[in-house]
Amino acid sequence: MKILVAGGAGFIGSHLIDRLLQEGHTIVCADKLIFGSDNIQHLLNDQKLEETGKFKFHEIELADQKQVDNLFAEYEIDAVYHLAANSDIQKGGKEPDIDFNDTFLTTRTILEGMRKADVKNIFFASTSAVYGEMPDVALTETTGGLQPVSYYGGAKLASEALISSYVSMCGLNAVIFRFPNVIGPRLTHGAVFDFIRKLRQNPHELEILGDGTQCKPYIYVFDLIHAIVKLTKDFGPGEEVYNISVKGGGTTVTHIAEIVVELLGLKQTAFRYTGGDRGWKGDVPRFSYDISKVLSAGWEPRYTSDEAVRKTVEDALEAGM
Ligand SMILES: NC(=O)c1ccc[n+]([C@@H]2O[C@H](COP(=O)([O-])OP(=O)(O)OC[C@H]3O[C@@H](n4cnc5c(N)ncnc54)[C@H](O)[C@@H]3O)[C@@H](O)[C@H]2O)c1
Repeated sequence: MKILVAGGAGFIGSHLIDRLLQEGHTIVCADKLIFGSDNIQHLLNDQKLEETGKFKFHEIELADQKQVDNLFAEYEIDAVYHLAANSDIQKGGKEPDIDFNDTFLTTRTILEGMRKADVKNIFFASTSAVYGEMPDVALTETTGGLQPVSYYGGAKLASEALISSYVSMCGLNAVIFRFPNVIGPRLTHGAVFDFIRKLRQNPHELEILGDGTQCKPYIYVFDLIHAIVKLTKDFGPGEEVYNISVKGGGTTVTHIAEIVVELLGLKQTAFRYTGGDRGWKGDVPRFSYDISKVLSAGWEPRYTSDEAVRKTVEDALEAGM
């Protein structure tokens, strides 16, 4: 298949491209490089990919309809994997336009581009943030009454709704994954990343946002990629939504800090909590998923949440962070 990966230079998108190339697909990657091109540099430098035309990169603004239409006009795309979004939720909390542009408008332009070019298959990277705060419920794909508490969650839920309407109006096939927290090599944000960075600057004291009891499931990025590739082998007909997560519980922020401190070999680090039950306004301090649907589709995560955190810290240290 010829696949457009929107947001393909990002943390998850770049791993997905690596895997889709291994599966023999031809990739068109579109991204405006908010975090630079490091994650795809190995692909841009690959002589064989250049010669075979198996990987093409376009630096574009995906919220711009014209640029998206041009892309669909240039390539005969079979499927779109849409991962472009604002991934800095705290930044979006201060500037809502970031989520409106990068998280919502990119979905609108991509769907319109697909409609005009008659492209039928879309994978969409959604999030647990669409549920808002439901700490006492094991969330399933049919849990209703969704009230997101961040602009990011609102923009993702609006994107999901728009995708549903295109499924019905234009006969699109859609696979939507609601990711939990995703971690692993090439990570650029989040608690694991922040703690390593902060402890490199000051190994004696670590500031932890909130009271440290926030508890979320963390999935290792290669487990997630395995699920995406497995469940998008055949698209459609219609729309499928999957909650993707690990087995067992989540990991508390304090426990992430303990793992980072241990693996950095630090002995006397004091934890200083900023207090309150959440890290920032718009943060959802705890949630848990019921993942029976994805398990019955034949996918199994390899790592628990704690193991994913541990592996990610090891990866980061190995990469010289
Ligand atoms: N990382 C997580 O824990 C997590 C959790 C839930 C959902 N998700 C979703 O998964 C997807 C990938 O996340 P990630 O962690 O790899 O983020 P990322 O920031 O590393 O990657 C997103 C990419 O999209 C690009 N992009 C954003 N807006 C764009 C625009 N308007 N035009 C062109 N390119 C644009 C960025 O340049 C970036 O390379 C996102 O949709 C995110 O919302 C991630």
